Order: sequence, then C-alpha cells, then structure tokens
Amino acid sequence: MSKKHIILTGMPGSGKTTLGTSLAQSLHLPFVDTDALIVARMQKSIVEIFAEQGEANFRQIERQILEEIIGYDRSVISTGGGMPCFANNMNLMNSNAFTVYLDVPPDSLLHVLMLDNSRPLLHGKTPDEMKSYIHNLLYIRKIYYEKADFRINPYTQTVEQCVDIIADRIEIVEGDVHNAFV
Ligand code: S3P
Repeated sequence: MSKKHIILTGMPGSGKTTLGTSLAQSLHLPFVDTDALIVARMQKSIVEIFAEQGEANFRQIERQILEEIIGYDRSVISTGGGMPCFANNMNLMNSNAFTVYLDVPPDSLLHVLMLDNSRPLLHGKTPDEMKSYIHNLLYIRKIYYEKADFRINPYTQTVEQCVDIIADRIEIVEGDVHNAFV
C-alpha cells in the first residue's frame, strides 16, 4: 500500500478543518473533510444522522467514506474526531497516508467546544459534565491518535506556522508521502 495522502486527526475542536484547508492550499492539493462528505452524501447534518440512525451506523458510514477517499488522487484529508478509534481505521489511515495528530490539551479544547452546538456527542452536557467527558474521551482515544506519524499542537502557533512545519516534515518520494526526518 502507498502513503499517498496526508490525513489530519485529533479531537473535536482541535482545528483539523482549518489547518487542513490551509495545508491543502499550500501544497496545491485537493482538500477533503470526511464529515462534510458524509453530510453531502446523506443530505443530512451529523446531528440528524446520529439522532435518526445512531452512532453505530454513523461509524459504518465513516468507514465506507474512508475506504472511498483512500482511492482518490493525492489529497489532504481532515477526519471526524472519532474516525481513528473505530473499525481499525487508524491502521488503514497509516497504511495509506502520512498521518498527523493535532495534539491539543483537553482544557484548551473545552473553551472551543463550549461555544459549539454542532457535535451530537456533546449535546445536553453541563460545563462540568463536558469537562470530564472531554478528559475521558481523550484518555480513551489517545492510544489511537498517538499512532500517527507526526504530532503538532496547533493551539500554540499560527495556522501558517503549522502548515510550514508539516510541509517541511514531508517529502514525496516515488508517489509516497514520507516523514522527511525519519
Ligand atoms: C465526532 C466528531 C465530529 C463528527 C461526529 C463525531 C467524534 O467531527 O465526526 O460528531 O466522535 O469525536 P469533528 O472532530 O470534526 O468535530
């Protein structure tokens, strides 16, 4: 298998879509956001899909979308926060992409997520519940995220700096994206 794509992973609110959009522009590659693709395909919001079909069905749709995207031409892909943690998806990503974990501390994520109502897993939680939920979720998910090829905290630098750091880190050799420093 060939590591032809660049995939950004990390918790909700870690900035995958923002950074992915800029990285794709800078590398002159198409940008694909898995949640946006699911919404377009299903003609429903993520909140509606969770409410009508449940999380297990959403995870199946995510897996299908991931398998489909892997077949696309080289792209920068931003993934839903849960995607790496189900159905062995992280291994599939690592086999087909240079993977980047946007590693943001839970209390920083909390500030962003408090202001956002678009994530069904966070609905109906008090600030205290949300805090312990985010901490627990990250604790469970870290094991998957940390399998990524590279890690960066986009909250401690600008988007442009992150783009430069990631772009410097990769080199494309015979069609595959490699970690330039390994
Ligand atoms: C989810 C994160 C969301 C979206 C869905 C489930 C999760 O994406 O895929 O609400 O399980 O963490 P973002 O990470 O872009 O918020």
